[in-house]
Amino acid sequence: MATVEVPKEEKDAHAASAPQQSEPKTITLRIARINPSEQHEPKFEEFKIPVQKWTTVLEAILFVKQNLDHSVAVRYSCRQASCGSCGMKINGKPRLACYTKISELDSPVITVEPMNNFPIIRDLAVDFKQMFATHKRMKPFVINEESEVKPGTKEFVQKPEDLEKFLQFSYCIKCGLCNSACPTMSTDKSFIGPQGLAQAYRYTADNRDKGKNERLKIVDESHGIWRCHFAGSCSYVCPKGVDPAMAIQLLRGYLLGFGK
Ligand code: SF4
Ligand code: FES
Repeated sequence: MATVEVPKEEKDAHAASAPQQSEPKTITLRIARINPSEQHEPKFEEFKIPVQKWTTVLEAILFVKQNLDHSVAVRYSCRQASCGSCGMKINGKPRLACYTKISELDSPVITVEPMNNFPIIRDLAVDFKQMFATHKRMKPFVINEESEVKPGTKEFVQKPEDLEKFLQFSYCIKCGLCNSACPTMSTDKSFIGPQGLAQAYRYTADNRDKGKNERLKIVDESHGIWRCHFAGSCSYVCPKGVDPAMAIQLLRGYLLGFGK
């Protein structure tokens, strides 16, 4: 059978257009190891990890678990910034491990620690019980007895400008990064926190809802909305574009009689 010789120029052009495989690099991953029933301070263990430019911090931690030390405790599920499970401090800042690429950190050493302002279960896994209980206390649902579907009930028409008032706050995935970054939470363990206050605003601002007075009573307490010093770090770290600091200001507006 006759073979066709591909001209050299064509071969070179093909090679240039092929996706480039980046060289694997090696970084040092420092993992905080702590078992609160046995120690107060974490010890850091270092692992050398091969990474590509798309490797995430979560993938680097899972490499350690699969190949070097299976006992590292880390929580994750979706691996796509949707479930809110994998929050941790990465090089000092609260971030989602599955949503943070090693390459974007621009450092040969990556340090991962459990989030601040949460009880530590072990290593990188923290306890969300209090945050979830506080979220529930904010009544995170539309309160409206008339919304029950009865014969003759009409569709509730919500205009785009009505939706705009609360839409960004409904993107919260309850990852806790905002609570972890909040300076007030670090001094007042009973503070409602930016996550809960943003959700109180999300439902209060919904024009289908009639629970405004119930929620305002809950947030207007000694560990409530007035403890916020407006540091703004909650909004800075949120991976979903939620602005809890703004929600807190708008909720205060309702309490001062400015909101409708
Ligand atoms: S407001 Fe943002 S940072 Fe806070 S829990 Fe929700 S998604 Fe996470
Ligand atoms: S694993 Fe779900 S948000 Fe990171």
